[in-house]
Amino acid sequence: MRVAIIGQGYVGLTIAVGAAGVGHSVVGFDVNADLVTQLNAGRSHIEGISDSDLAGFVAAGLYAASADASVLDGCEVIVIAVPTPLDETRNPDLSYVYAAAELISTHVKSPALVINESTSYPGTLRKEIATRIIEIEHLYASSPERVDPGNNQWGTKNTPRLIGGLTPSAVAKAVQFYGSFCDNLIEVSSPEVAEAAKIFENTFRQVNIALVNEFAQITDALGISGREVLDAAATKPYGFMPFNPGPGVGGHCIPVDPSYLAHVANEVGVPATFIKRANEVNLAMPSYVVKRVVAGAGGSIKGKKMVVVGVSYKSNVADTRETPAAAVIDLLREQGAMVTWHDDLVGTWRGESSSPISGADIAVLVTIHDGVDVAAIKACGYVFDCTGQIAGVDGI
Ligand SMILES: NC(=O)c1ccc[n+]([C@@H]2O[C@H](COP(=O)([O-])OP(=O)(O)OC[C@H]3O[C@@H](n4cnc5c(N)ncnc54)[C@H](O)[C@@H]3O)[C@@H](O)[C@H]2O)c1
Repeated sequence: MRVAIIGQGYVGLTIAVGAAGVGHSVVGFDVNADLVTQLNAGRSHIEGISDSDLAGFVAAGLYAASADASVLDGCEVIVIAVPTPLDETRNPDLSYVYAAAELISTHVKSPALVINESTSYPGTLRKEIATRIIEIEHLYASSPERVDPGNNQWGTKNTPRLIGGLTPSAVAKAVQFYGSFCDNLIEVSSPEVAEAAKIFENTFRQVNIALVNEFAQITDALGISGREVLDAAATKPYGFMPFNPGPGVGGHCIPVDPSYLAHVANEVGVPATFIKRANEVNLAMPSYVVKRVVAGAGGSIKGKKMVVVGVSYKSNVADTRETPAAAVIDLLREQGAMVTWHDDLVGTWRGESSSPISGADIAVLVTIHDGVDVAAIKACGYVFDCTGQIAGVDGI
């Protein structure tokens, strides 16, 4: 099939490579011209897709990136994989989705299967995308992406994929497309079911992470080890699922998607109280971390040399979107500490570069990547570990 993917970020490039890998002819459209140049030169910008794989697909003529929207015309399948962030009032910002619909409306002159993989609230495919493309009668399906960057066990091929369509023929065509490179397809009765399932999955994580974050504060105040309690609870073979406490939540999904659900809930008059409370707890974790660090370091960190280790939002990825490390660093600086950060994967961030770990009076481990110099962390005078990975030091 000739396939176009709109948006070549974490999701779009992953799908593009999955489809090219089974012989589809894939064009990756992105408005970022520098990214397009980089991709056509065989340089991947995401973990999980190697430069050599990408370069191989480019050389074989199975993949090309483009910033020219005319490439969309004539494609059998068009996948939308653009950002769905929150606006300044923490409400859904669908402007990228609207722009993608507009591109299809303007440039695609023959019927295609239009699939939305971007995460959004139920009703997005039907009301926000299909209604904006009126000139041509396309097929429409929703298949929310579940990619977990850096996860070596679950990838595009073996992660079960939900598919909901506006018509049975849209579902059939989407099944034909995804069935060529995904092992397990689950057809649901409507796009709204697929869309709602995706945001509920991430809301489930957001709420449970908040619960365990609050629990960690309770156990600390009680003078017992929260992690030991969680390990003990996890020995129950049914009815319990472990989540880990941490410095907050980051990335494009967990801090954002639940607010899409809260938005539609409010529209239909149901208050999404769990989501609101979970947001409050998770957003307050950086100040809890800093309070514990100040207490653990003897009551003041003024003038202390501090290093925050691991600033991406999770292990072994370079993604710093919504990372709680930002608030941790800002709050430590507000307390008068001289704060640098160390992260080999991130390199440069917020106009600053990664600094060495050694030489700091205090180390705060926010995110742990494989191969980080644990001995250098432990050599700092006081260590606070938000990850629960370093034995014998203070932490959550
Ligand atoms: N990153 C994840 O782990 C993940 C997982 C599951 C679902 N999602 C969802 O998938 C969607 C995409 O997320 P992502 O992480 O890939 O985002 P991303 O920021 O990594 O990539 C988005 C890309 O879209 C491009 N873009 C923006 N507007 C465009 C337009 N009008 N036309 C063409 N390209 C455009 C950007 O330049 C960027 O390269 C979001 O809805 C997100 O919530 C992300």
